[in-house]
Amino acid sequence: MTLDLRIPWVEKYRPKSFDDIVSQNIAINSLKAFIKKGDMPHMIFTGPAGTGKTSAALIIAKEMLKGEYYYRDLLELNASDTVRMDYVRSVIKDFVNQNMIIGKNSIKIVILDEADNIPNQVQQALRRIMERASTKVKFILMCNYINRIIDPIISRCAVFRFVNLPKEEIVERLKYIAKQENLSIPEDKSDLFFDTLFFISAGDLRKAINTLQMSVALDLLENLNVNEILKVSGFMDQQTLEKFIEAFQAKDFQGARKILSSIETFDSRNLIRQIIGILPRINLQPNDLNILHAFFGDIDYQISQGADEQIQILALIAEIINLVNK
Ligand SMILES: Nc1ncnc2c1ncn2[C@@H]1O[C@H](COP(=O)(O)OP(=O)(O)OP(=O)(O)O)[C@@H](O)[C@H]1O
Ligand SMILES: [Mg+2]
Repeated sequence: MTLDLRIPWVEKYRPKSFDDIVSQNIAINSLKAFIKKGDMPHMIFTGPAGTGKTSAALIIAKEMLKGEYYYRDLLELNASDTVRMDYVRSVIKDFVNQNMIIGKNSIKIVILDEADNIPNQVQQALRRIMERASTKVKFILMCNYINRIIDPIISRCAVFRFVNLPKEEIVERLKYIAKQENLSIPEDKSDLFFDTLFFISAGDLRKAINTLQMSVALDLLENLNVNEILKVSGFMDQQTLEKFIEAFQAKDFQGARKILSSIETFDSRNLIRQIIGILPRINLQPNDLNILHAFFGDIDYQISQGADEQIQILALIAEIINLVNK
């Protein structure tokens, strides 16, 4: 069998039923209960990327809109469709108002992805559409940040919180896929490999699966070089991290600055995560660790507000070096 890498594995292994959804037990169990009763509320699925929100919504649509009516009775929109008020008004209203050739239990479903990017004014219009829609029309909104959804919408919906997946669940799913795809992973390096994929994913299963597929596509499995995998994923390799530790311990700011400028694919978020990971190996007082964690938060915020990443990271490095006990 030759390996066909054209199909993204995230799609190939998208859960097809609730039982395929890993983790998320609290959310999934109550969803199952609603489906079983057949009376579904409007819903909001909220939580970090790659944790199963879209997958769960599609499963619900499949369960509730049997077979031939699936395409007729499902409207799927994402943020780029919903920033425009006129579009939302006309398309959703039309869909909602279409006469339904209603069998007793049939419903229509509107899925709104990236709902936290819908401008407030459009959300207000949406709220009015929801208020006026028949009880046979159900909305499922998906978002990463629920605090960006207006209260009147939240209060009309049952909220389901999706969480980052724990390491065991991510690794189990990756091993399942590896088996289905007949991947040969050198046994002695298998643990390190899956640890690394989990680290890169930070609990985002989509990212974990994509990184697995990328490792295969780039032919990195045979000699299994996790440093290469880290690098192509925008992280520092192990050697670079060790060099940072040395420079920190020696309170060598110029040295640390050189290491920073030698990094090819610089991603400040990733860099911060890796530096947090090595702090326990640096000679710091427990209270200094608290100071640094607060500092990390500030820097992350500054960067998200558009501050220069290199300068912010240099400030961070200076702060660490300042606190190190030689
Ligand atoms: N809980 C899960 N169980 C099984 N597979 C999952 C799970 N979460 C994510 N995946 C995998 O990751 C892919 C993407 O998941 P999904 O589209 O459901 O994420 P999402 O929560 O909607 O993310 P986003 O917030 O980025 O839209 C799925 O096709 C599947 O392969
Ligand atoms: Mg999604």
